[in-house]
Amino acid sequence: MPRARAPGRDAIRRAADVLRAGGVVAFPTETVYGLGADASQADAVARVFAMKGRPATHPVIVHVSSAAEAARWAAAFPPLAKRLARAFWPGPLTLILRSNGRACPETTGGLPTVGLRVPSHPVARALLREFGGGVAAPSANRYGSVSPTTAAHVRDDLGAEPDVVLDGGPCDVGVESTIVDLTSDEPAILRHGGVPQEDIERVAGRPVPFRRPGRVRASGTHARHYAPRHARLVTATAGEAARVAADALRDGRSVRVLAPRRPRGLARQAEFVAVPAAPRAFARRLYRLLREADDARVGVLVVVAPPDSGLGAAVADRLRRAAAGSRGRRRG
Ligand code: TXA
Ligand code: MG
Repeated sequence: MPRARAPGRDAIRRAADVLRAGGVVAFPTETVYGLGADASQADAVARVFAMKGRPATHPVIVHVSSAAEAARWAAAFPPLAKRLARAFWPGPLTLILRSNGRACPETTGGLPTVGLRVPSHPVARALLREFGGGVAAPSANRYGSVSPTTAAHVRDDLGAEPDVVLDGGPCDVGVESTIVDLTSDEPAILRHGGVPQEDIERVAGRPVPFRRPGRVRASGTHARHYAPRHARLVTATAGEAARVAADALRDGRSVRVLAPRRPRGLARQAEFVAVPAAPRAFARRLYRLLREADDARVGVLVVVAPPDSGLGAAVADRLRRAAAGSRGRRRG
């Protein structure tokens, strides 16, 4: 894959001007590509929703250049927020805090809270520093498809709709940020992501359990968001993979198996793709693998998942949703 040259200072300056003028900029972060607009301009944020085809009631994350800037968007920045920010920013962590109203209701989905994140990708950092304010940005994919981890994915999904697409190469983390809700006395993880739960708890010095978002409409919590468009996704252990593949072949479906090693007894007609055994390396490739399965019109995608530790929890979460999402869909 040709690696694009990183956008230079002029390109960053132009992109920041586009944001100030109410335009929409797709930009790389270390997790996935974001589709950004000025978080204080309602019309600009509305354009992002329209481009994605996403319901306007979903809150989006505000991206800023530093923890000091993040504090300017929150009614309070509690001690635990400071500790987590110091440990993981810039990086793949989003903190939900009480909003001070600077983020427009289009950004917060009308909630009294705001999601804040300081990304670490050098292009995102340069853009946010140059822009100075907050950039409201969901992942730069059409609503209901997997998040983009390259600029080409963004163009595949959104074509020429964004005013600017900054190409910063493939994303390093490959899955979205971990979301930690700090708006009550009981901190909770709303979405597993690029910072493992173990690391959050170590810094917090207390358990930070996963809590299924209830009242909050979190888009990343719907099953079909992680489902490939055509392929039916099935997870299997290394020991089960050959049998699952054989069943699918018997149903007349084409089969691709993703596993660290070719499963024993795998039928010759099943296609095998070797994937990293380590959770972090697997996470980096996950969304690309799902997109590639669709591009190849694979019927059934059998995935042998990496261990659940570290980034494995985020991977397991996305695979579970992808499997559920692809099961619930009608086949043509
Ligand atoms: O890694 C990421 O987080 C990427 C990159 C671009 O930063 N962004 C991302 O955005 O995944 P999106 O919109 O696809 O997912 C954002 C999640 C949603 O589930 C949303 O509900 C939640 O963040 N969120 C945002 N603001 C919130 C708030 N005030 N309260 C609760 N959840 C919020
Ligand atoms: Mg998304």
